[in-house]
Parts: sequence; C-alpha cells; structure tokens
Amino acid sequence: MAIISSKKQPPEPDREPKQSRESVKAAAAEDNLLQPEADVDELGKQEESIRPQRFADYIGQKDLKDVLDIAIKAAKSRGEVLDHLLLYGPPGLGKTTMAMILAAEMEVNCKITSAPALERPRDIVGLLVNLKPGDILFIDEIHRLARMTEEILYPAMEDYRLDITIGKGSSARTRSLPLSKFTLVGATTRVGALTSPLRDRFGLIQKLRFYEVDELNQIVLRTAQLLQTPITEDGATEIARRSRGTPRIANRLLKRVRDYAQVKLSGEINETVAAEALHLFQVDPCGLDWTDRRMLSVIIEQFNGGPVGLETIAAATGEDTQTIEEVYEPYLMQIGYLQRTFRGRVATPAAYKHLGFKPPNEQLSLLP
Ligand code: ADE
Repeated sequence: MAIISSKKQPPEPDREPKQSRESVKAAAAEDNLLQPEADVDELGKQEESIRPQRFADYIGQKDLKDVLDIAIKAAKSRGEVLDHLLLYGPPGLGKTTMAMILAAEMEVNCKITSAPALERPRDIVGLLVNLKPGDILFIDEIHRLARMTEEILYPAMEDYRLDITIGKGSSARTRSLPLSKFTLVGATTRVGALTSPLRDRFGLIQKLRFYEVDELNQIVLRTAQLLQTPITEDGATEIARRSRGTPRIANRLLKRVRDYAQVKLSGEINETVAAEALHLFQVDPCGLDWTDRRMLSVIIEQFNGGPVGLETIAAATGEDTQTIEEVYEPYLMQIGYLQRTFRGRVATPAAYKHLGFKPPNEQLSLLP
C-alpha cells in the first residue's frame, strides 16, 4: 500500500499526513506537552513508526473493527470498492490509523489530506482525478471543507463523476468527467458541524470511543517494545491510567517517561518512575493536566461551579474555544467532571473532590 500525502513533495511513505496548524496545535495541546512547531515533522516520523499497520496489530475499538471487517470482506467478495466512511470522535483515538489500515486490508493506496489544505476547487480536483480504482481518499477535519470543495465532492461520492464548469456567465457550460471508483474516508471531531448533504453521502458513519485502561496498557507495552524501552506491567498501567483514554497521549507520555528514566539512570520504567515523571510533567493520576485543572478551578472558584459560558472559560484559561470544546471537554465529560448545559458549563461534585474543594451539597449540609 502506498501512502500519499497531498503535500507538493514527492510521496514518502513515512511522512506525517498534512495537518492544519490548528489541528497540530490541538493534538499537541491534548497532553499539554506542546512541541515546538519545527519538531512537528520529526514527531510525525516517530509516530509513523509505531502506528499499527493491520487490524491484527490494532488494539481496542472492537465494535468498529467488527463493522469494518464485515464491510471489507463484503466489498472484497463482490469485487467492489468500500462504501464511503465517516469516522468521528475526539482527537488522538486513531482515525487516520484506521483509514491507513483499511487501505492496507483492501490492498489499495491511501491519499491523506485535510480540509484546510483543500482551499481552492483545484486542490480537490487534482486529488480526485489522480485516484486509482479502489483508492482511499482520507480527508481529516472534514467539517471544515470550503463550500465549493464540498459541492465538487457530492457527484464524486455519489456517481464517481467530476462536474466542472467551463467559462463564465451565459457561455458557461458544465462538463462531466468520469472518476475511478474510490472510497472517501472523512474524519471529524465535530460530526454535528457537517452539512447534512455531506453526512448523508457516507454509507458508514462510525464513532471512535475513548479507550479502556487495559487497552491503553497493551498499547503502551506494544509501543515500548517497538521503542526497545524496558517497562514493567505496573509502569505501563500507571501511564495508561493517566492517558485520558487516548492512545496518542499514552504514546507521548511513554516517551516523556522514557526520557525521565534514562536521565535518572533508573533503567526500566516501573510504577514509581512513571508516577514521578508524570508528576514532574504535571499530569495528575486521572490524566488531567494544568489546563484541565485550571478550567475546573475557574468554574468552581470564580463562578460557584457554573453554569459559565465557554467564552468566559477560554478568556480565563488563555485557551481558544475550539481547543477547549474538542480537546479538553470530551474527556472531562467522559469522566464525569464537567457537564455541558444549555446555560453553560458546570463542574460536578466529582470535580470538586478531585481538586480538593468541598462539593456544593456538602457545603449546604454544613449549614445550620
Ligand atoms: N498505537 C496507537 N494506537 C494504537 C492502537 N489502537 N493499537 C496499537 N497500537 C497503537
């Protein structure tokens, strides 16, 4: 399988897929271990080497794997291309990896791009006309497609046809060009932000879920083996517990803990070394980082636990609203520390307890 990114360089199999500045920033912000931007490509190469290549290596997301396995087998036995697939869920859960695995399992090429890279109609046209039969076109952040790009995709997805308009005004004519049958895999963190005509053109719409600690534990052990880093089972569990249900974070934390173990000359990573290192990096036992804790403490201390608006939280924490909504909030809601209500964000009693504050009803019960 060839992996082709839509950058203008010649294709290189181990390049990081093209990402927008925002998505790179958001991904890095997930564990608050923001990398300097110049390091993004280097980081990408490392991530590529530990990415699972086939379903057999891919840990977790069992329901999704089962659905895709059936779809692949059915498409192969009919000699057809896979249906268009929309993957949604928080960042770092493996949407790009899944698209690459699909291509490997279908034995086709995977072209990787992201919506912000498809600004002009000619960007998407260039990609579509070069697709070979069965190829997978992966578009990350698909909710951010420009309107004209999206409109080019409708007939391309439905009838494998490219409608182009030649000329302007009364002399304008539409020409239709046939395209190879292909599979569009779209990925988004905000499925609700897709227009319905686009969403309706996907035959499969699948959610990626946060991972369980035992799945992340296996991922950490697998990555440590690939990185030739000695680690104990307890050491892997300690990292897994603090990884916010997210493999990308688990692998990043593993690398930071590996650095710590190396510098402290402690040899293998065990539970104590992992806990010490992650404490140093301000990742707490629940996986919350400085920004998570700041968000929750702002809601609790300055707004009586909420409800408080997203913009206010953004101003108080110095994070942008998109990063808060797409990176921080999903996990805080998943672990029951934050609720989104129509009047704003509310910190739960569990969040109070975690940060060492008295939950509001306990305060009430202390009143005479
Ligand atoms: N590395 C990152 N995500 C992974 C997964 N789901 N399975 C195995 N290794 C991974």
